[in-house]
Amino acid sequence: MLDKKVVELLNQQVNKEFYSAYLYLDFSNFYYDQGLDGFGNWYKIQAQEERDHAMLFVQYLQNNGEKVELEAIDKPGIVLESAKAVLGEGLKHEQYVTSLIHNIYDAAYSIKDFRTMQFLDWFVKEQGEEETNAENLVKKFELFGDDPKSLYMLDSELGARVYSAPSLTL
Ligand code: FEO
Repeated sequence: MLDKKVVELLNQQVNKEFYSAYLYLDFSNFYYDQGLDGFGNWYKIQAQEERDHAMLFVQYLQNNGEKVELEAIDKPGIVLESAKAVLGEGLKHEQYVTSLIHNIYDAAYSIKDFRTMQFLDWFVKEQGEEETNAENLVKKFELFGDDPKSLYMLDSELGARVYSAPSLTL
C-alpha cells in the first residue's frame, strides 16, 4: 500500500503526462501547418514519449495495487505564436513538469517511500534530458532560424528523429 498523498500525486501525474502529449501534438500540428515537417515530426515523437510516461505512472500504480483515477484532459492552453516562440513554450513546459516530478519525489522522500523514489529516479534523469533537448532547440533556432537554408537543414535534422520505447520497464 502506498501513502494516500503519494497516490494522489501519482494519479495527477498520469493526467499531466497525457496533457503534455496533447500539448505536443498541438505543437506538432502547428509545425506541419507551417510546412516545417521536421519540427512537426520531432514534436509528434515527443507526444508519443509523453504517452509512454503516462502509461508508466499507470503501470506503477497498478503494480502497487492502487486504483487509477482518470480525469479529463484539458485543451492545450498555449497560444502558438511563431515557430520560435513555440520552442520557448516547450522549454517552459518541461521545466514545469520537472517541478511536478520533484514535488512527488519530495512527498515520497518525506515519508521514506523508497520504492516510489526509486521509480521516480528514472523520471528525474529523463526530465534533465528533456530540458536539455528543449534548450538546444531554442538555441539552434536562435542561431539558424532566420536563415532559410539553415532552417531547412535544421528542419531536415529534426525530421530524422525516430521513436524509441522508454528505457524504463516495470
Ligand atoms: Fe513526461 Fe516531458 O515530461
